[in-house]
Amino acid sequence: MISKQAQLKAVARLAGRKVCIIGDLMLDHYMIGTVERISPEAPVPVVRVTREDRLLGGAGNVARNVAALGGKPLLFGCTGDDPEGAALVRMCAEAGIESRILKDKTRPTTRKTRIIAHNQQVVRVDSEQPDPLPEPLLDEMFSKLSKILPEFPVIVLSDYGKGIISRGLMGRLMDLLAPLPQRPLVLVDPKPVNYDLYQGVDLLTPNTKEAGEGAGLPAKGRDGVLAAGRALFKRLHCKHLLVTLGAEGMALFESPEVVRHIPTVAQKVFDVTGAGDTVIATLALGLAAGLDLITASVLANHAAGLVVAQVGAATASALELAQAVEHLPDTEVNSWIE
Ligand SMILES: Nc1ncnc2c1ncn2[C@@H]1O[C@H](COP(=O)(O)OP(=O)(O)OP(=O)(O)O)[C@@H](O)[C@H]1O
Ligand SMILES: [Mg+2]
Repeated sequence: MISKQAQLKAVARLAGRKVCIIGDLMLDHYMIGTVERISPEAPVPVVRVTREDRLLGGAGNVARNVAALGGKPLLFGCTGDDPEGAALVRMCAEAGIESRILKDKTRPTTRKTRIIAHNQQVVRVDSEQPDPLPEPLLDEMFSKLSKILPEFPVIVLSDYGKGIISRGLMGRLMDLLAPLPQRPLVLVDPKPVNYDLYQGVDLLTPNTKEAGEGAGLPAKGRDGVLAAGRALFKRLHCKHLLVTLGAEGMALFESPEVVRHIPTVAQKVFDVTGAGDTVIATLALGLAAGLDLITASVLANHAAGLVVAQVGAATASALELAQAVEHLPDTEVNSWIE
């Protein structure tokens, strides 16, 4: 059991901690309107747009979550040389996120446009070019990273499979970290096609589907999650693993043998979008504050619970997190061993 007092103390330690985030930056673009007729040009609805929203997505949303909790994120990413890229840089500044964003002339900024009418998504339109970063851009990124990385206790790799996290980047990152006396922890939100790139990292945060794909086993139910988790340890030689279980909470593998289950508390669920970003952001900030893995995971579970109760890719503040802890019972953490 993790007491409320311990959790409240832990929340108070998050402020001002630094987290470096490297990952796929995206523009989440929403066009919202109404349909009154079918197009004369093709058998499709005509959406008349009444509102447009633009949000920081992907790695940007992880950084947004760190900032909302009172942490200090430093975000490394890449955009195209286009107005969407300029908008992302501006949005980072507005959200209080320090960023080092490279401009790649050979790709468009990754953008997901959702066209929504009467609360229903009509179509999603993606712009992306997910090739790995060209060498000169990797050089530019690593000349910056090599100067500042030793100052960071935790690095998050937010991999949405859009090209930033590549074999080239991982090789350079591991070479840079290996000789450091106090090696920063490396946390990864994985993309299944890239599992082989994450050899030897400190912690991965797949959901059950991603864990199952990486393990080659269905991660269903307690025994399925345990088997998939152990297969992932064998495949990746990672130190720890946190499998997020949606409404079932999370399974924290401190090692293949020491596994604990953290349940969610019953609450209203409006929109689970971005809950995974909240989990890794809170976990990273907690570890940067020196919390143990189980306490950081319990806070991440609470923060995700706050975010799923809101519409859109929301965030939780430290105050909201403290209030949630205050209003909930102590967290029961059960051992999950056969
Ligand atoms: N229905 C739910 N009720 C309560 N909590 C939830 C629910 N769905 C998700 N959560 C919380 O969010 C966490 C992450 O959810 P999930 O396992 O769905 O991650 P994910 O698939 O990576 O999310 P996404 O990719 O949409 O950001 C869970 O561990 C849990 O704390
Ligand atoms: Mg996810």
